[in-house]
Amino acid sequence: MCGIVAVIGSREAAPLLLEGLRQLEYRGYDSAGLATVQAPLEAPASGDQGAPGQLTCLRAEGKLVNLTARFDAVGAPGHCGIGHTRWATHGKPEERNAHPHLDGSGQVAVVQNGIIENYRSLREQLQAEGVVFRSDTDTEVIPHLLARQLASLQDQGRVASGSLLLEAVQLVLPQLQGAYALAVVWAAVPGGLVVARRQAPLLIGLGEGEFLCASDTPALAGFTRTILPLEDGEVALLTPLGIELYNGAGVRQQRNPSLLTGTEHVADKRSFRHFMHKEIHEQSETAALWVARHLPELGSDTGGGNPAGSSLVALPLDEAVFEGVERIQILACGTSRHAALVGAYLLEQLAGIPASVFYASEFRYAPPPLGPHTLTIGVTQSGETADTLAALLMEQERRLLVADPAYAPKLLGITNRPESSLGRLVPHILDIGAGIEVGVAATKTFLAQLLAFYGLALAFAERRGGGVHGPAKLRSLVAALRLLPAQLQQLVIDHDQRCADLAHLFTDTQDVIFLGRGINYPIALEGALKLKEISYIHAEGYPAGEMKHGPIALLDARVPVVSIAMPGLVFEKVLSNAQEAKARDAQLIGVAPQGPDTDLFDTLLPVPEIDELLSPLLTVIPMQLLSYHIAAHRGLDVDQPRNLAKSVTVE
Ligand code: G6P
Repeated sequence: MCGIVAVIGSREAAPLLLEGLRQLEYRGYDSAGLATVQAPLEAPASGDQGAPGQLTCLRAEGKLVNLTARFDAVGAPGHCGIGHTRWATHGKPEERNAHPHLDGSGQVAVVQNGIIENYRSLREQLQAEGVVFRSDTDTEVIPHLLARQLASLQDQGRVASGSLLLEAVQLVLPQLQGAYALAVVWAAVPGGLVVARRQAPLLIGLGEGEFLCASDTPALAGFTRTILPLEDGEVALLTPLGIELYNGAGVRQQRNPSLLTGTEHVADKRSFRHFMHKEIHEQSETAALWVARHLPELGSDTGGGNPAGSSLVALPLDEAVFEGVERIQILACGTSRHAALVGAYLLEQLAGIPASVFYASEFRYAPPPLGPHTLTIGVTQSGETADTLAALLMEQERRLLVADPAYAPKLLGITNRPESSLGRLVPHILDIGAGIEVGVAATKTFLAQLLAFYGLALAFAERRGGGVHGPAKLRSLVAALRLLPAQLQQLVIDHDQRCADLAHLFTDTQDVIFLGRGINYPIALEGALKLKEISYIHAEGYPAGEMKHGPIALLDARVPVVSIAMPGLVFEKVLSNAQEAKARDAQLIGVAPQGPDTDLFDTLLPVPEIDELLSPLLTVIPMQLLSYHIAAHRGLDVDQPRNLAKSVTVE
């Protein structure tokens, strides 16, 4: 977890580090810190043989503003430095656990994103040798190990230099187990810093005479568009003059940088108070872009189906993804998993392909027995979620061990960040193209993930003679999808004030139940997750029919029940389940079309009637707005809720 940044060049490092950290704060905001090395005036600006410098380390608990205030007060001079924004794993979010961590003499500083799994034994070993630890973190073992390694190399007559720091890092890395990315500075070398990655993202940005390194592209985009993503196991020495890149075996690597595309700049909030609110409002644009990209204008249809050679949905995927697939398994976490549940419903009920969804963190350690002709889909907005990446890698590796080609791995990734680690891991990527999302609680990327699954299910169904319901149904769904952007725009406007007014009713609420069935059950889960994430109100998403088997015991007049009831297969069933809740005095909020059937609800958040198979695309909107307004009404930090981070890069 966490975000790291490093910079070396001709400008003062600290302001660049702070700006980079600002762009990475979505990765964690429990604490932040930076360390800079200032060269003495006569020092040459080169990685080698510089005179020793002065290391300054600043750290602050809480959000980046606290670190910025400290920097404004005391400064941190130097053209070389490293920075960190933390999401606590080992050790409470206190200043003493904030990065950078230093060795005993304060000469070596390290920032790390990830987990050093064997830190306990390393720590015990170092403590037995007399090292005193100042934090509870796993990371602190690294500066101590490095300091000892550097001392031992210097005892052998080696002179302090960037190359020596690189060598020390290369010697220490094999002692570390786990997935991590790190950056190191050494007071003795003001003109060099070393970065390394192992199963955690790290990219170098190439400026003119200066280099920035960061966990993610937004931190680089304001600095340069020329980037060099590090491959797994690589280590690099950065000096103002260039980059020396080595693979895990210590062999020097030469690689051309690539150009950043897209809008990695974090957009501003426009007139909105919070990014989340802005991103909820952007969903009609998200849908319009998807329709423009993936629903080709049909030529004259002769009435018998599509004109030869055309397709109802155009996805930029190899035909190989679709060929011979007999079952689909989907791996994901959090909100992405909820999109996957809707996706599996569509793949089964529309395309007729057996599909299952797994928590990526569970799949890793209890995968189902291997089946033949299986497509495995990883869904991750960020493309960096450690559990999802590890589960996909594990699936790939176990399938490669099977000689029978029917079991060969076929991996597809659905992501908002095609340039992410996921993009490098799987051969086929479906880019959801939602643009950068800043709010930690996913909204527009969830809608974009849903749309990706609609595209995929339609594409599979079309290739299977129309799937479960036949070609006419597919055409009518596509026609309805074309209307979605306008519907979403209206729905968001309609519900914004309505949900803001409703939020007042939740001032003292402690528990909320969300009910849905069939394709809207995952939307009930998503509604509950959104509310939990940003308002800290306990919420449960339940399949409405299961309510009577336990959770109904929770109900009384203090527990609002939000029930999604869209006309279709389970409409009457959900209404009956809602009646059962009403009979227990629960306050009933309905997400349903207006009409005589739905007048049982105490409050209605009306959603237009639409084909049930498409209804999640609409029912999720009141869920998002309700959570948003409840949290905003409570005065909470909607965009950066406590204990969370947008991308969880630790297991
Ligand atoms: C974190 C975020 C969630 C997100 C989940 C999966 O827990 O707080 O909002 O749904 O990670 O993220 P991914 O990037 O894999 O979709």
